[in-house]
Amino acid sequence: MCNIIPLPVLYQPSLGYFPLTTETRIQFDESNAWNAAFLRNLLSPATGIGLHSSPADLPVEGAIRLHLDATLARLGQEGYRLEVRPGGVDLAACTTAGVFYGFQTLRQLLPVEIEERSPAQANWHIPCLLIEDWPRFPWRGFMLDEGRYFHGRDTVLQLLDLMALHKLNVFHWHLTEDQGWRIAVKKYPRLVEIGSHRPGTYRSMFSSRHDGCPHGGYYTREELREIVAYAAARHITIMPEIEMPGHSLAALAAYPEFSCTGGPFSVATRFGIFADIYCAGKEATFSFLQDVLSEVLEIFPSPFIHIGGDEAPKKRWKACPDCQRRIRKEGLKNEEALQTWFTNRIAAWLESRGRRLVGWNQVLGKGLAQGAVVQYWLGDLQEVSAALKHERRQFVMSAYLDTYLDHGYNLMPLSRAYRYEPLPAGLDPEEQSCILGVEFPLWTEWVPSRARLDYQAFPRLTAMAETAWTPAGKKELADFHRRLEPFLRRLELLGVRPASLSEVEPGWLRKKLGVFTIPLPQRKTAPPAP
Ligand code: ACM
Ligand code: ZN
Repeated sequence: MCNIIPLPVLYQPSLGYFPLTTETRIQFDESNAWNAAFLRNLLSPATGIGLHSSPADLPVEGAIRLHLDATLARLGQEGYRLEVRPGGVDLAACTTAGVFYGFQTLRQLLPVEIEERSPAQANWHIPCLLIEDWPRFPWRGFMLDEGRYFHGRDTVLQLLDLMALHKLNVFHWHLTEDQGWRIAVKKYPRLVEIGSHRPGTYRSMFSSRHDGCPHGGYYTREELREIVAYAAARHITIMPEIEMPGHSLAALAAYPEFSCTGGPFSVATRFGIFADIYCAGKEATFSFLQDVLSEVLEIFPSPFIHIGGDEAPKKRWKACPDCQRRIRKEGLKNEEALQTWFTNRIAAWLESRGRRLVGWNQVLGKGLAQGAVVQYWLGDLQEVSAALKHERRQFVMSAYLDTYLDHGYNLMPLSRAYRYEPLPAGLDPEEQSCILGVEFPLWTEWVPSRARLDYQAFPRLTAMAETAWTPAGKKELADFHRRLEPFLRRLELLGVRPASLSEVEPGWLRKKLGVFTIPLPQRKTAPPAP
């Protein structure tokens, strides 16, 4: 039975095993040197096998062969073919990304103990089979909000490794917020000097004061470059998000001259939506934002740059002489139209530098620049369908009640996370192709620690990764639960502390929906110490 997550498209088991022995070789062509190193790092410590490398021109008996094969373009740019026979393993794809995903599958054909990277255990072998596999969507995203809480380099690197295991390929990095600015900008040093720290945090909606515990942190340019390269080696694009015009209080605390009123402001210690946003009337605001974005583009090669655009109250713009002058000068109808004008100005600036703007679906106003990609999270799905049909607008889908990892398990149980279908009904195939994919956001207002992050994200992200990769018709909840058991042990050996299976599906809901057709497996190993 297949234990792999996400479930492969075609899976054909056969008899026998390929044994890993001291004679096992990894054969690879030049372009797969990095993939081969990755495989050797996984296999060598646990198996105690000194894996030898050799060129991959011809298959060698007893070898694991990684190579490119142009004929496999029929499986798409990220697809792969994996054949395990008693005499050898052949992993091929038309790109190194495909081989990398094949490696993530091969890894799950080995006992979970392989992840311990501990010295020799006994009798490692891989079951014989043929897999041909490719993703459903080209955009398979995970978003981390580090504006609310800074989690830091080590956590991000580990999350990138976990994304790779799940065959996810877009890390949407929410780096600026009312509560913190997390990215060093040479031209505006106060963004991190002032904007990256707050004196405390209101720990609940009902607190009457903040907790008095200072919180802060930011990434240097060197760290960002390191993280971008680490992601690229795992075929993950990092799409930075620099929020505008709203959720910008930390930046305005540092540079109040880019607001409507001139401030002064402080970095937010509460969560919510704040009235003070960037002024759309002052030219200086655009010089500032373009300077910031110029430095962002130097670091992030992503073709997509996210500018937020959600939750921008218009109170200040309504009262601001500069914003009102802009509305008159540009012949705009109102402040909503001013936000579209603002977004289009940034979109054009990005486009002239070869990048595309992405915004949350509040940017979807009349006249939004054609090239802008919209991330749907809340509101009328009819608007998505209309924009698809009339403008061929491209979307990424992140429905609030089905993909937000910050929800409690009572609101979004594992079964709901698994069942999410990103394509709105009633689209023809050409319209469907405008949905680039799906993304799973983790907002961190209530996620101050790594333990909480793990609990919120796992195992729901595991369920969601299957939606992003596997054809909808092949998904099945009971079978997913069966495959989840070994996968959870793998996650635990990788240092993750997922929510326990008794917590991910509130009991009353389980009864009501009858979602579990097989008994839930109990976790066997204790989670590792923090
Ligand atoms: C959002 O959740 N405010 C995009
Ligand atoms: Zn203004």
